[in-house]
Amino acid sequence: MALSAEREQDRKKYGWEETREAEASALRAAMSLFPTGVTIVTTGRGEAAEGMTANAVISVSLDPLLFLVSVHKGARLNQRIKEESYYAVNLLAVDQEGLSRLFASPERSCGLAAINALNDGYGRTGAPLAAGALAAIECELEAVYPGGDHDLFLGRVVAIHMGDTRKGPLVFHEGSYPSLKVAPRLGDSGAFVDTVRGFDARLNRIRPKKRR
Ligand SMILES: Cc1cc2nc3c(=O)[nH]c(=O)nc-3n(C[C@H](O)[C@H](O)[C@H](O)COP(=O)(O)O)c2cc1C
Repeated sequence: MALSAEREQDRKKYGWEETREAEASALRAAMSLFPTGVTIVTTGRGEAAEGMTANAVISVSLDPLLFLVSVHKGARLNQRIKEESYYAVNLLAVDQEGLSRLFASPERSCGLAAINALNDGYGRTGAPLAAGALAAIECELEAVYPGGDHDLFLGRVVAIHMGDTRKGPLVFHEGSYPSLKVAPRLGDSGAFVDTVRGFDARLNRIRPKKRR
């Protein structure tokens, strides 16, 4: 529905540059402005292994622990999760852009070649884990909900693996992988000065008194 010229003017006043028709390209353009982490969702063992880069993942519930991934109906992984009834969500670290690109490619290998690329064997469910990931969340499939051209796989979390959490996350934004600006640590701001003062004070307190 076209907006009246008057309404359009109103929007401009509040900083909206343009209102687009509700179509795929517009939603894609809007969501490209929303930075996300990047995961590789995996399932299957040996020659049946499959993995795919995904950022449509949500931690849904803490009681019970439920997790959701949205997978295109045409993606190889979709059918494989339905067959295996479990999956792992590997949260990628900043140095894993190559892995993200590989598992987003339609030409990528499945089976043992995929396992070799991930390089870390299997988790408790049997889903492949990615070596060097920040964390991996393993799920048993609870339900599959239709989501248009995607299926929503709701899983019960059964294992959580923590990797080297000192590495930063891989971030996807506007179609590429920008590096995060490192936020100043508390120590670089005034707060550190206070800490030092506190430390000094404590030092003063325990410093042995000079003999007279
Ligand atoms: C950063 C990133 C995030 C993605 N997230 C998803 C996602 O959440 N769900 C999905 O179905 N495809 C997602 N994709 C696209 C798939 O990884 C890609 O289309 C893959 O080739 C699909 O598998 P297929 O080759 O078996 O069809 C994403 C791609 C990238 C680069």
